[in-house]
Amino acid sequence: MKSRAPFPLQPHHTMATPHQAAEGVIINDPGQLNALRRYLRDDARPFQVLGGGSNLFFTEDFPGIVVLNRIESHRVLKDSNGETILELGAGLAWPAVVERVLADRLYGIENLALIPGRVGAAPIQNIGAYGIEISERLVHVRAYDLDTGEWLTFPAEACGLGYRDSIFKHPPWKGRLIITHAALRLHRRPQPVIRYQALRTYFSERNITHPTPEQVFRAVVDIRTAKLPDPACLPNAGSFFKNPVVPLAQWEALRERRPDIAGWPVEGGMKLAAGWLIEQAGWKGRRIGGVGTHQRQALVIINYERRPGREVAAFAEKVRAAVARRFGVMLEAEVEQVAPPYPRLRPSN
Ligand code: EPU
Repeated sequence: MKSRAPFPLQPHHTMATPHQAAEGVIINDPGQLNALRRYLRDDARPFQVLGGGSNLFFTEDFPGIVVLNRIESHRVLKDSNGETILELGAGLAWPAVVERVLADRLYGIENLALIPGRVGAAPIQNIGAYGIEISERLVHVRAYDLDTGEWLTFPAEACGLGYRDSIFKHPPWKGRLIITHAALRLHRRPQPVIRYQALRTYFSERNITHPTPEQVFRAVVDIRTAKLPDPACLPNAGSFFKNPVVPLAQWEALRERRPDIAGWPVEGGMKLAAGWLIEQAGWKGRRIGGVGTHQRQALVIINYERRPGREVAAFAEKVRAAVARRFGVMLEAEVEQVAPPYPRLRPSN
């Protein structure tokens, strides 16, 4: 277990707020987790696990230990009948995994190209893009319970995977598990998924009716790079808010006012495009000081000047308030704010 104190956080989360943690610890091997547990319990300091740091931001200096998950194993659990189950270390970079499996002619996650972050975050967030969610490919998640010191395996059905949601974001598991591995089911036979509108448009413009998985990958890369800012240049954490779901009655009323509003039927009502709501509320490309929404995708908040986290949070509040005022729709953040109270382990007796 390598440890550094103090530990600058800016290079380790894509929103790049200029804070630091009291200490940073790097985990490369699941065998280090018992020692980590003892270390965290000994003085009951707060801790925060970081994968790629691409879906959270720090609002202040972190008064505890940041644990960088860098478990990078890669194991084939099954390879028969055209189906391959891969168990991947939680610290592997997700975009590299997508490229590697495609190069190995394994199919099923090409739509999830270029999603920033590491493997361990994929089930927590139930990452999804361009017509696919990881819930459709996940077999199981393995994790170490810092509370009890036990190893746990969660079959995909037990992970409570919903839209950008899972049991790992809620009690009793939040702030208690280190996800060490995620296993995915992939296929040898190409089964391209092109139901997402932007992909259909992309292929019809090119007169491609039956794209290969490699072409789907290329398309997703092209669409994403055209729309979404590269966090290495413009610090951001992807979609800042979730796409909200409103009851049917509210949807009807909104459509009466704005016949051009887009919505998708889902359980519990209609899902709206948060980016559209923000744009229509007049906040696309708007900037206050060093923080603003992206010019081409209003749902992304950019920390242009690497400002402190509280300025990002204050800007997001203004966006939320503007959408609420204009449409009566309350946006819910998708990006997590690391702010007090922080989790900590009970000291050992
Ligand atoms: N739109 C606007 N103005 C904007 C942005 C979007 O009018 O400024 C409209 C678009 O024209 C389109 C609709 O909103 O009609 C949806 O836009 P888009 O296809 O860009 O997708 P999104 O709903 O904004 C979601 C995910 C993304 C994912 C894409 C593609 C959420 C919160 N976001 O964005 O995920 O890449 O779909 O599947 O569900 C992320 O989670 O960080 C993320 C980037």
